[in-house]
Amino acid sequence: MCLSTVDRFRCGPPLWPKRQPWSAPFGVAGESLCLLTRDRRIADSVVGPTQRDSGSGILHGVWGEVSYQAHLPETARIALATDIAFSAAIRRRSSVRPGPWTVRDMPRKATGQELDAVDLFAGCGGLTQGLRLARFRVRLAIDVDHLAATCYRANQDAVELWERDIVEVTAEEILRRFRWKPGSLPLLAGCPPCQGFSALRTLNGGRTVDDSRNDLVKDFCRLALGLRPKAILMENVPGLADDARFESMVAKLRAASYVVRWAVLDAADFNVPQRRRRLILTAGAGFSVPFPSARKRLLSVRRALKALPAAGDSGDPAHDHGERRSASVRRRIACIPLDGGSRTDLSDEQQLACHLKCGGFKDVYGRMSWDNVAPTITSGFVNPSKGRFLHPVEHRAITVREGAVLQTFPQEYHFPMSAGKFPVAELIGNAVPPAFACLQGRAIRKALADATRPHTS
Ligand SMILES: C[S@@+](CC[C@H](N)C(=O)[O-])C[C@H]1O[C@@H](n2cnc3c(N)ncnc32)[C@H](O)[C@@H]1O
Repeated sequence: MCLSTVDRFRCGPPLWPKRQPWSAPFGVAGESLCLLTRDRRIADSVVGPTQRDSGSGILHGVWGEVSYQAHLPETARIALATDIAFSAAIRRRSSVRPGPWTVRDMPRKATGQELDAVDLFAGCGGLTQGLRLARFRVRLAIDVDHLAATCYRANQDAVELWERDIVEVTAEEILRRFRWKPGSLPLLAGCPPCQGFSALRTLNGGRTVDDSRNDLVKDFCRLALGLRPKAILMENVPGLADDARFESMVAKLRAASYVVRWAVLDAADFNVPQRRRRLILTAGAGFSVPFPSARKRLLSVRRALKALPAAGDSGDPAHDHGERRSASVRRRIACIPLDGGSRTDLSDEQQLACHLKCGGFKDVYGRMSWDNVAPTITSGFVNPSKGRFLHPVEHRAITVREGAVLQTFPQEYHFPMSAGKFPVAELIGNAVPPAFACLQGRAIRKALADATRPHTS
């Protein structure tokens, strides 16, 4: 939800004092909830388009073109209200402390003039967030997924977002919309969907996976050739490097006079408390874009999570969602040794029958270690059966907020938890860690500055 365009949100009369409209408690039983907003999309993201349109009685009335009034049943109201109250509270700098990323570990903000950028396949905004820290002004973001778009808008409200299929977007319409000429855009960045190339998808035996999402790499290349940005940044899984479509893209960019470099980098070497090997491609129009140098120090899970309050009672829906597990799974989790233990430490009786049989995926039901980096935060990180996602010492998977912090999202980043923890975890797991994106962005800024600086002899 784009909070900056929300006019008023209140529980019954009287209106809260204008200067602190978010400080009153939400979700008090029996009170009516009233959301006044100028933007129909905000009403949709709060009440949901189905509910708004279905005449279910949840949305009570629509006031002309400009505002919406919602009378919600108590349960919906409480879920919704905590979500919004949290987001609002943090935006008003109330009780929530910033995470380590906003104070010490996050690369310091670059200085200098902001440079325009476009973010293709923008997801929930990880790449945009990092580019902003590197002083890029993302003018346009495109993503086809509604939940990703909702999350993106809630956090990146200054960016124009097209919720569209990129296959149907042309370079000409982008140039026309922003009155740019081919060659004038400083940076085109993007992260085409990578599930099709992912090593995880091939562990079960197949060597290649035919996934139509792989073709979107071609659309990234098509838009790059049409926009002719000064610099290009693309992130993907390492498996893409072995695909003919990647080779073809590199060849096409080189034929268009771009100096292309690519490498597989581990985000853990770039201020991210997580192993995350990713293919990074950079290209400069007639100049090379070197990669940033690796940091000497790894950031541990302990350091990343230490600023978070206890899960379950923090007031943050992304940290308080809890989990439902059968008694036998809970018992099994409690047996995994603290601080880095694995299911292979369990006796045969404690193992699940399927684990004894298949042997593979040794990390499932594993615990993170306090003093190591986390494993790759994938889209299934709230589920311990998907990897080493148990908390180092608590008998539970990490929360959505902990996953987001390990991905280096700032602690105040809003996630639409009313959609459920699994879809939100997918957004987070698919994101480019902002700290990683920031360092790539800064290297690009430097290369752009060097390329335009007049040569002195
Ligand atoms: C790897 S994620 C991008 C993550 C994002 N860069 C971030 O840092 O948060 C890929 C995104 O591509 C989007 N996507 C998939 N197919 C698309 C299409 N045809 N057009 C536009 N977006 C698409 C998905 O919805 C998903 O959000």
